[in-house]
Amino acid sequence: MIKRILTGDRPTSPLHLGHYVGSLQNRVRLQEEYDTYLLIADVQALTDNFEHPEKLEANIFEVALDYLAVGIDPNKSKFVVQSMVPELTELTIYFMNLVTTATLERNPTLKDEIKQKNFIKNLPVGFYTYPISQASDITIFKAHLVPVGEDQLPMIEQAREIVRRFNRMYDKVLIEPKALVGEVARLPGTDGGAKMGKSLGNCIYLGDPPDVVRKRVMSMYTDPTRVHPTDPGHVEGNPVFTYHDVFNPDKAEVEDLKERYRKGKVGDVEVKEKLFKALNVVLEPIRARRERFASKPERVREIIVEGTRKGRAVAQETMAEVRTAMKISYKF
Ligand code: TRP
Repeated sequence: MIKRILTGDRPTSPLHLGHYVGSLQNRVRLQEEYDTYLLIADVQALTDNFEHPEKLEANIFEVALDYLAVGIDPNKSKFVVQSMVPELTELTIYFMNLVTTATLERNPTLKDEIKQKNFIKNLPVGFYTYPISQASDITIFKAHLVPVGEDQLPMIEQAREIVRRFNRMYDKVLIEPKALVGEVARLPGTDGGAKMGKSLGNCIYLGDPPDVVRKRVMSMYTDPTRVHPTDPGHVEGNPVFTYHDVFNPDKAEVEDLKERYRKGKVGDVEVKEKLFKALNVVLEPIRARRERFASKPERVREIIVEGTRKGRAVAQETMAEVRTAMKISYKF
């Protein structure tokens, strides 16, 4: 039996380099051997954007464009819009009985996000319970593998826990998924912050034109202890060098830059110019493919509709099994 992948993204903005190295590259590679479903998670996006639902439609399209731009092949991977699969909502309600509030409270990703979004005093129940909804996303597709960024690991763990509980209590219907983290578990933001995040304004987006990428790179944080280019600088923890390590295939050039940087023999500008060049080599083909698909919006919509139709069929099959296992498949 061919194994399945399910993973997804919240359509609140286009995708960035952090998504690329954290998960997208894995998806492109693995679509050859896995039956792949990519969930454009608009329902989850609403859990912290319920006041701005108007953002979603355009960004569903943008995320689909990013998938196509990085080389995800719509003949191999299905793009599924979450709200168009209402079975997900049903499964989430059943799963809610299998999760305690104590478990949610301990979820490290949820904890961080609650702080970051200032939900400490007024936590919406929808947001609080999104790990349960994400468990439905994964399990309704019977996914074996979930390629995600490192921050999502607690979500996969939550899904595994629910599956074990469900299978033990009702019947062995669901599959316990495994997470797969990309080569670069966590790409720092251009500001040196721990993570590239759309709400943090420290991103380089996959569709950014060269002049925007250049500006972003030139304004990147470097070594705060270094005032003049002749001061010896630090390479470790310096986001410009972290990016060089990730994106610049010319390892000799990177080593040379590092050595000179440590000795105070190279300025930030040269290091950044070289990083910009390396990034552009990565981004150019992505940008070109993105533009090609953007000029055919009808084709992109077709891909979304077709993927969602196939995804929903899988979800309906699983739900029939779930209802039978739960003895709520009534004959009335
Ligand atoms: N929470 C994920 C994110 O913020 C998006 C997501 C929704 C997801 N459903 C999923 C990821 C299912 C993996 C599996 O990026």
